[in-house]
Amino acid sequence: MALTRREFTTASGAIVALTVLGAGCSREDPKPPPGANGPGGKKDRKAKLATEPFTVGPLAKYAAPGVYTDIKEAKGVWLVSDGKALVALSATCTHSGCTTDYDADNKSFECPCHSSEFDLQGINHEGGKAKRPLERCKVELVGEGSAQEVRVDPTKRFRKDKDEWDAAVTELKLADLPAATQPATPPATQPSES
Ligand code: FES
Repeated sequence: MALTRREFTTASGAIVALTVLGAGCSREDPKPPPGANGPGGKKDRKAKLATEPFTVGPLAKYAAPGVYTDIKEAKGVWLVSDGKALVALSATCTHSGCTTDYDADNKSFECPCHSSEFDLQGINHEGGKAKRPLERCKVELVGEGSAQEVRVDPTKRFRKDKDEWDAAVTELKLADLPAATQPATPPATQPSES
């Protein structure tokens, strides 16, 4: 079917408009690279912090200094002992919420998304995307005698930049442990000393 001059002009204009629109979209909303939102991608690295309190065994288990990594995958929390106190750090990066990794060689927590780094106290390194430290979770002792355990509450978190790192709720003193309850050797869950 032959097009009239007017119909031809209208159709040509529509094609040009669609082409320009398509080009604009591809500039502003680029297709994510393969894997960006799939397994191992940035979306996949978003932290999965536990939503309920949980227990992690007796305090004496953490007497040896180090980063205890065994609950990080399941709970999104780093347990860090300096031999004097135990703290529970949220593994969630404070920049945009990815899960940090532990680098035993550098003794730091590192974010795979934009490379922010935090020391073992959770303090952010200067110059990184993350502008504040990792958050501490509430820790407390529950139970009595030999059944006493450390309880971590990731629903109650505390920020250093807001002066919320109150030792009364964010640290458990290891120095007060009776000598008989302290292990002679580091526990198997400790990957390296801090
Ligand atoms: S989410 Fe960690 S540096 Fe951006």
